[in-house]
Amino acid sequence: GRVAVLFGGNSAERDVSLRSGQAVLSALQHSGVDAYAVDPKHQSLAELAASKPDRVFIVLHGRGGEDGSMQGALEQLNLPYTGSKVLGSALAMDKSRCKGLFRALGIPTADFQVLQQVEQATHELLQSLGGKVMVKPANEGSSIGMSVAADEATLKTAVAAALVFDRDVLVERWIDGRELTVSVLGEQVLPIIEMRTPRDFYDYEAKYQVDTTEYLCPAPLNEALTQQVQQIAWQAFTAVAASGWGRVDFMLDAHNQPYVLEVNTVPGMTEKSLVPMAAKAAGYTFNELVLAVLDQTIA
Ligand code: DAL
Ligand code: MG
Repeated sequence: GRVAVLFGGNSAERDVSLRSGQAVLSALQHSGVDAYAVDPKHQSLAELAASKPDRVFIVLHGRGGEDGSMQGALEQLNLPYTGSKVLGSALAMDKSRCKGLFRALGIPTADFQVLQQVEQATHELLQSLGGKVMVKPANEGSSIGMSVAADEATLKTAVAAALVFDRDVLVERWIDGRELTVSVLGEQVLPIIEMRTPRDFYDYEAKYQVDTTEYLCPAPLNEALTQQVQQIAWQAFTAVAASGWGRVDFMLDAHNQPYVLEVNTVPGMTEKSLVPMAAKAAGYTFNELVLAVLDQTIA
């Protein structure tokens, strides 16, 4: 049947989505699928419906595409789509509410506070979170609007910068350690990737713009730790009602304690992205991965 590939969109991650979506579209076409592009920035839902797709492959990142709103619209149009449904998409997009849920369920995640005003960014708050924090908009992706702060003035600047993108700002205890990510495909947890960057953290530049990031897959962790991290990834994925495919990001501290950062329900799918890398280690070519995600479409 015909597959509409949704990519581009209006979020701050539009450029990433354009790259992810083009890669997915090409892969589907190379596999002989009758796939075509739809960019919600330029085409309406009415036009999408009129194009009469049998299924929709969502490769929109961030708000308006990954957050449940598009998923809800597709439900109303009776169009089957890839990935998480409305609830999983909406919940996973909100890092602060996910962390509250993780806490309640005993899934390890770093201490945090949610702020809505710069005035709340005090020295006392900073001290209560260990004196060094990561500041992020609650509902963003690709590290957009994020910065590190270890003094009150920097914290206020960081909170103001994050408030540009969101009314909720997450201030998280800084975890000094290794960055890991775990991809999920259907019911399968894929090999862990470790990302190593000479930058302060795996930020937008490290993700997309520089060549200095080192990727290790499978991540060099012992068998027990590998299993523990993969198990926590699956717990976090299901806790937020994610389904189909996705990626769970982690920090691992110096004592090998893993902390879940967040769940991504439409992770990057550029040829250099993480899910394709993990899938490759599990024996899937990029084309096979794309077809496997499409197969997770639930009517
Ligand atoms: N938000 C980006 C696309 C990712 O998680 O890969
Ligand atoms: Mg993310």
